[in-house]
Amino acid sequence: MDATRRQFLQSVSAAAAASTVVGKAEVSAASTAEREAGAAAASAGTAARAGQQSATDPLGVRADFPVVENGIYLDSPYIAPSPLQVIEAGQAFLDAKAHDPVPLGAMLEETDRVRRKFAELIGAKEPEIGILDATSAGENLVANSLDLEAGDNVVIDDLHYETTFVLYRHLEKTRGVELRILESEDGAASPEEFAELIDDRTRLVSVSWVSHQNGYRHDLKALAELAHAHSAFLYADAIQGIGMLALDVEEIGIDFLTSGTYKWLLGGFGVAPFYVRESLQDLVKPDRLGAFSIARNLGDFRFELHKSGRKYMYATPAFGAVFQLRAGLDYLLQVGVENIERHTVSLAGHIHESLTDQGYEVLTPAGNKSAIVTFNHGRDHERITRALDEAGIQATLREEGGQIRVGPALFNNAAEIEKFLDLTGRWM
Ligand SMILES: Cc1ncc(COP(=O)(O)O)c(C=O)c1O
Repeated sequence: MDATRRQFLQSVSAAAAASTVVGKAEVSAASTAEREAGAAAASAGTAARAGQQSATDPLGVRADFPVVENGIYLDSPYIAPSPLQVIEAGQAFLDAKAHDPVPLGAMLEETDRVRRKFAELIGAKEPEIGILDATSAGENLVANSLDLEAGDNVVIDDLHYETTFVLYRHLEKTRGVELRILESEDGAASPEEFAELIDDRTRLVSVSWVSHQNGYRHDLKALAELAHAHSAFLYADAIQGIGMLALDVEEIGIDFLTSGTYKWLLGGFGVAPFYVRESLQDLVKPDRLGAFSIARNLGDFRFELHKSGRKYMYATPAFGAVFQLRAGLDYLLQVGVENIERHTVSLAGHIHESLTDQGYEVLTPAGNKSAIVTFNHGRDHERITRALDEAGIQATLREEGGQIRVGPALFNNAAEIEKFLDLTGRWM
């Protein structure tokens, strides 16, 4: 084996072993030089948020979001703009790649830092967090770990994301699993309606915590209780919720959850934290193995493999996005997700009420507690697209342009919402 390859393998297994030690006592296996380089890259993007709180900037964040200079961005349910701190962290990583690449040990330390911070954000423990490459990867792993058989059923609703339908339709064909899809009523899918579909052959209940379609916020606690009462599990696709809404997985009793990071977590593409409740870690097996699976080298090409959430990262992930995510998590923890929830849900509530008063058919249930609102505009969609463009407003046009979806984020303010509502008012 050549020296470079040997060094690589040693650094992987050493850093991997070091990363099993949790908390302040963590000892890095990386060299001093690696630690210094890693610390430099890791400190990028940690600047405190710039702004003072004010009526036009209730969370004191607007100076960090260059997007607010361009117009009114209400499209965070599609892709959320990042604050400068996240961009700086990504840029520092790229600059280092050009001049003095961040060493592997430091990148692994950053990944574990992300696991700890994400755990902090959702009330979990670091060993319960893995790093995957996309939201969809989590549900694939969970579904494939359950060894579903003919006669088993999986219960979802029609407010879910496309991945889920593709996945279970495939398992229906290949394993004879029954897919039960609850039809939402007036934009909602209540636990009571789920209860009618769940029985003792239900193995998994899966929902998108906040639906990308209309922002409907599922009652995860009630669904977890329902699933558990039938010895089933609850999976949540949380990409439209985490970073927008506060969550405590312990309190809620959720079993598995995944979230991509390019929406409300303010990060980039290519990494997605994956939560598996500690007692279920043995059940959800990694579907691939590699050098990063090694917890301890036993010699003679034998290895002890990671057992906790660390086991899902079998090889180099998108480390650039890991650095961005760390800065995004720092930012969210600094602003406080409870504050973000209060601000964004209140703006969305105002949008809902005003659109209803203006006479629109709003597809999000009244009183829904998320930041997403979808409505039928009932007009020629090309005209609507032009009007939004001219007003400098960015939103998603869904269902062949007939629906508008908006999602105020932490950087939006009431004046922007009024401008949007002025425009919708003029269409009626
Ligand atoms: C609810 C929901 N789940 C998943 C995704 C995307 O998933 P992935 O990270 O697997 O691409 C989206 C993207 O819009 C979404 O809205």
